[in-house]
Formats: sequence, structure tokens, C-alpha cells
Amino acid sequence: MSTLESQASAIRVSDIGRTFPVRGGLFSRPKMLRAVENASFVLPRGGTFGLVGESGSGKSTLARIILGADEPTRGEVRFGERVFGKRARESDTRWRQRAVQAVLQDPFGSLDPQMRIGEIVLEPLRIQRRGFARDALEKRLLELLAQVGLPAEFRRRRPGELSGGQRQRVAIARALALEPEILVLDEPVSALDVSIQAQVLNLLKDLQDALGLSYLLISHDLAVVAFMSSHIGVLYLGRFMEQGTRDDIVERAAHPYTHALIAASEPDALDVQAIGGEIPSPLAPPAGCVFHTRCPAAREVCRKEAPPEHRLSATHRVTCHFPITSKA
Ligand SMILES: Nc1ncnc2c1ncn2[C@@H]1O[C@H](COP(=O)(O)OP(=O)(O)OP(=O)(O)O)[C@@H](O)[C@H]1O
Ligand code: SF4
Ligand SMILES: [Mg+2]
Repeated sequence: MSTLESQASAIRVSDIGRTFPVRGGLFSRPKMLRAVENASFVLPRGGTFGLVGESGSGKSTLARIILGADEPTRGEVRFGERVFGKRARESDTRWRQRAVQAVLQDPFGSLDPQMRIGEIVLEPLRIQRRGFARDALEKRLLELLAQVGLPAEFRRRRPGELSGGQRQRVAIARALALEPEILVLDEPVSALDVSIQAQVLNLLKDLQDALGLSYLLISHDLAVVAFMSSHIGVLYLGRFMEQGTRDDIVERAAHPYTHALIAASEPDALDVQAIGGEIPSPLAPPAGCVFHTRCPAAREVCRKEAPPEHRLSATHRVTCHFPITSKA
């Protein structure tokens, strides 16, 4: 069996940390908020790595670091041979601006209401000053609209005339304009009606197959992540609790938090908030295992000692003193 380490990777994240100084009051010293701690994972080329976790678990912080919109406090991100650590080569930064594109949650906020759809979709080409002739631009625009399943006449419309699902298709077309290799999808369907979500997710799957794209998919919804992903990482308070292939996580979950997320995502779940208690403040994370205040399996050692990471297989890793492995 090939390990994750030996596969060709689109993204390799090593030991990323991101700390934000947060001021409590005018005269108090800033506190350090650890939004992401010691995060490592690999997105295999052509695959989808799904990041799942509750609000504030650090998903968007990781996404912004991978996009180059934010810098990590420590660690490095590699795209093949290109390394982004403390310093990056200018040519690599230019490569990332083209090859790594984003589709974000809010199709309302991310599209300029004054612009026509045609201008929005082609805007990345204009910003990169690609010297396209007028008819080549027109051809590219029609190709992009067709790829996302929008009629050609939509190019003259404005975002306000489109439905939420159509607007998200525009955002995807814009993200594809520069022929990227990687898409960072941060809650791409969360703002859409459930009936429309499946259409947009299926479109993303078709585009991945047709164009050989690699996806970093972020969602608080485990069902969305399980449907889309080849690999999954479960985040809690900025730390990976568990990661592995889709089946490692969905069929053989070993972490109590993953089990709680699965229970909450069952269609007949009585209570969506299947995980008891509140998420602790990231400014004062619990000692020992950060999940111990909500974990039904917590024992004395969990309150005192941070659990080690266990490798359950070549692909499956879990950070827990008492991983649930009876089904294995
Ligand atoms: N610029 C910032 N300054 C201070 N704190 C920040 C900043 N950006 C994020 N944080 C904090 O870092 C933590 C992780 O935030 P992040 O936005 O990455 O979470 P998330 O998993 O994307 O949550 P959501 O599901 O709500 O989008 C949160 O506690 C957040 O308040
Ligand atoms: S280390 Fe303990 S508290 Fe943390 S998830 Fe495992 S059993 Fe629960
Ligand atoms: Mg977010």
C-alpha cells in the first residue's frame, strides 16, 4: 500500500502554526490566540482533502495560508518542488497567484454587483495582464461559462439578476479563468439551499475529473466533506484530531470527536448539537487533551497530558489517549 508520504502531492503542509495577538483591553497585554497548531497534511495530486470542524477550528486560517493571503507563524507549505516558508521565491509567488485559486462561501459578497458576469469571469485575466486578443477573450469567456453550465447570454447580466447557485457557478468560472491546478473551496455550498448544494458539488466533481484539479475543501458539514473527499482531516481548536482517507474517517473513525460529528450528521439525528457543551475559548484552550471538556470517553490522564498521535495505518492518524479501534 502506498503511504500518503510517497504519493505525488499537490500540497504538503508541514507543522504549520498561526498565532494571532489579541488585545483584551486598552492597557492589558495582548494574549496569543493559537488559531492553528502543528498542522501537517498532504493533498494528493488530483484528490480532494476535506477539512471539517466546528466554527473557529482554524479551517479558514489554513485556507488563507495555503492561498498566500496570510503567513504562517511557523512551518511550511509545499506545492511540489515550490516551498513557501519564511521566504518564498518571487517566481513561486507568481506561480501561486495563478495556480491556486479560491471559491468562497458568499456568492453575494464576492461578486461586484455593478459588474457584468462577463467582466467578472475575465477579471483575473485582466489583472494578470495576459495579452489576449479581443476574440480570444470572447472565446475563453464562452468556454468558461459552458464549463460551469451557464448560458452564454448570462455574460451581459449582473450578479443581482442571478440565483445563489448561478452566482456560485460564476465564482467557479472566475476561479478557473487562469487555468489553476488547485482550488481552495471554503464552504462553497453553505449559503445555498440544500437542493442546489448537490448540483454545485456535482459540478465541482465533474470539473475535477475533466481538468485534473486538486481540491482543498472546507466545510463544517461532514456529509459534504464525505461526499467530495478522497482524504479528510478533522480539526478541533486548531489541532488535527484525526486524519486519513475518506473511509478511514467515515467507516473507521477512531477519535471520539469524529464519532460525535458522524452522529450529528446522521439524517435522523435527534439533536444536531450531538456534542455536549460549548467549544472552549481558543484564548484559553483546556490543558491536556483540548477536547476533554466535551469528550464522553475522557479519563484523568486526558485532563493532564496532551495525547500523542497514533498511526493506525499507513494513511490513518489519530490524536487521542484512547482511540476507538474495536471495529478495525
Ligand atoms: N485576524 C485574526 N485575528 C485574531 N483572531 C483571528 C483572526 N483570524 C482568525 N482568528 C481566530 O482564529 C480562530 C480560527 O478562525 P477561523 O476563521 O480559521 O475558523 P473557521 O474554522 O474557519 O471557522 P468558521 O467555521 O466560523 O468559518 C478563531 O478563534 C478566530 O477568532
Ligand atoms: S484524549 Fe481523552 S479526552 Fe481527548 S479525545 Fe481521547 S479520550 Fe477524549
Ligand atoms: Mg471559516
